[in-house]
Amino acid sequence: MKRKLFGFLLGTGLVFALAACGGGNDNAAKEPAGNNGGATAVNAEEIYKGNCASCHGQDLAGAGSFPSLQTVGAKYSQDEIAGIIENGRGAMPKGIIKGEEKDAVAAWLAEKK
Ligand code: HEC
Repeated sequence: MKRKLFGFLLGTGLVFALAACGGGNDNAAKEPAGNNGGATAVNAEEIYKGNCASCHGQDLAGAGSFPSLQTVGAKYSQDEIAGIIENGRGAMPKGIIKGEEKDAVAAWLAEKK
């Protein structure tokens, strides 16, 4: 009985160790060197929350004259969304975010259908 339990604990421990290792390797492959795990270097959702949510809402629902972005991917392609971020639109200021942050948020929003 004791042996079985020990074997079980050892087994699950090994599975967890392997799972943790696998996850770490996946992240390492995607992230630039120097980023020590955890959040990815460019987290579209975090960027959205920091730069866009004040107008478009934390949940993308919009409010008043600020349009909802909940199904924006059904309306625009990633490139079109990147263009709106770049050039602004009506009361939306242009160039709030740039470069890879802009691309990451545009790709993330393009999946909202
Ligand atoms: C100062 C408020 C404000 C901020 C900040 C803001 N927006 Fe906007 N956004 C607007 C307004 C207002 C419109 C509607 C413009 C219009 O069509 O006249 C709009 C429109 C859009 C549209 C087009 C929606 C549609 O259905 O046509 C997209 C996409 C968009 N915003 C994305 C973003 C992203 C991504 C960010 C963050 C980088 C952001 N916005 C930040 C105010 C804002």
